[in-house]
Amino acid sequence: MSRKKVLAANWKMYKTPDQARHFFHDFLTLVHGHDRDEIVVCPNYLALDVSIPAAKGSNVAIGAQNVHWEKEGAFTGEISTSMLLAIGVTHVIIGHSERRQYFGETDDTVNLKLKAALEAGLIPIVCVGEVLEEREAGLTDDVLRRQSLRAFHKVSAKKAASLIVAYEPVWAIGTGKTATPQMAADAHAIIRGQAAESFGQEFADQLRILYGGSVKPENAHTLMSEKEIDGALVGGASLDPKSFAAIVKY
Ligand code: PGA
Repeated sequence: MSRKKVLAANWKMYKTPDQARHFFHDFLTLVHGHDRDEIVVCPNYLALDVSIPAAKGSNVAIGAQNVHWEKEGAFTGEISTSMLLAIGVTHVIIGHSERRQYFGETDDTVNLKLKAALEAGLIPIVCVGEVLEEREAGLTDDVLRRQSLRAFHKVSAKKAASLIVAYEPVWAIGTGKTATPQMAADAHAIIRGQAAESFGQEFADQLRILYGGSVKPENAHTLMSEKEIDGALVGGASLDPKSFAAIVKY
């Protein structure tokens, strides 16, 4: 049961289209021929349009950071699955903690977005993770189980085949604090357990669960050596081509 790791960059609200172009110019050379792992870069919406041609024919896939669940309509400021697919996007991050924290996303909207992405054929990277108070109160298991259960609600194993989950403890995002490999492994086991309940053991055994939260070139190797960790979702350290390439090559 070997799961190919996924190294995914989440650029958040950084980089103009020109800066994105420069990134790919340098990054693609650095990771040329790397096929041990899957590489995904998720730029902001505006930078997608230059990132897709820049990465075309390379070993790097392009993802969006968000998507709306409706096909089209009067939803000012939103982007649909078909718009992403039309320009060549293959992946999409869903339910990142910043979207939950600052933009009112809930377990229910995460579920709607997941269903829409799978229906459209986008590969979803669904984020779950506890905040510090929840960890300190011993609620990590409950939170991860609840977020996963609700995200997977009424999704079939067949439909969910491409699903990727990212475990991102909120207290580790952008703080320089990293979960220890053991903490991540324990959390991943809980998520995998919920996936087994929702989709069956075989599905759960194949599900890729990434770790996210202050992943850097210095800690990538240790984290990626943990067998429960199937890759990383990287924020800050993915903005620099050398740094993200070092993480990819951990
Ligand atoms: P970070 O962000 O690597 O800057 O901690 C990770 C994320 O939010 O996906």
